[in-house]
Amino acid sequence: MNNIFDAHCHYDDAWFDEDRDSVLASLPEAGVSGIVWNSVDLKTAEYITSYAERYDYIYFTAGFHPENLEDIPEDYLKRIEEFLKLPKCVAIGEIGLDYHWDIPRDLQQKVFEEQLRLSKELDVPVVIHDREAHGDTMELLRKYRPKGLMHCFSGSVELMREVMRLGMYISLGGVVTFKNARHSVDCAREVPADRLVLETDAPYLSPVPNRGKRNDSRNIVYVAEKIAELRGIKAQELLDITTENAKKLYNIK
Ligand code: NI
Repeated sequence: MNNIFDAHCHYDDAWFDEDRDSVLASLPEAGVSGIVWNSVDLKTAEYITSYAERYDYIYFTAGFHPENLEDIPEDYLKRIEEFLKLPKCVAIGEIGLDYHWDIPRDLQQKVFEEQLRLSKELDVPVVIHDREAHGDTMELLRKYRPKGLMHCFSGSVELMREVMRLGMYISLGGVVTFKNARHSVDCAREVPADRLVLETDAPYLSPVPNRGKRNDSRNIVYVAEKIAELRGIKAQELLDITTENAKKLYNIK
């Protein structure tokens, strides 16, 4: 299979420290045509920039993840804006709310809202992280109506339909192959064909048959096979559609 587009991944993770460059160099040979490597703060955005300059197929995002707010600088919005001037920085991400961890919610909401406002101002898409915070996340999305992606979507079909009404995309990854993934499977069947993209969230959430192991963009074929089967189409067809969607979402020519 080819034309694999990974709409959300993290190759800066320490899990890749031993062989990052050889993994990244080998992905195009394995049929990977594009990835969007998501930063979680300014340091990671800086790090990823050097890879995006070296590899044609690597695109990236700039933004503050809710788990990375401890030392957030005062001028962070200006600095995100600077990254977005680079040709391969395609979105503000990974941003959102995470109520799983004990991180002050008012700070999370403030930073999330400021980044949503910036995305509207600059007319760029956002990549949303929503963990155990569906209600507050949706409230802010309804308020700002940004373009963008609900990454690793874990909500119900009803919530997915609301995301569709807002004009956003959802991405699905390894979770759809897990035994207990009822929501993901339902969404994989029901999501309109022009609003679905595929992701790894590498190095996490490796699909069956590699569950528990380090994930990378090659494993998207297992996700594509599972979703294609649910939708009664061929896996390559699903890869072609979702790659086109990802390029449209991220404004990649
Ligand atoms: Ni992520």
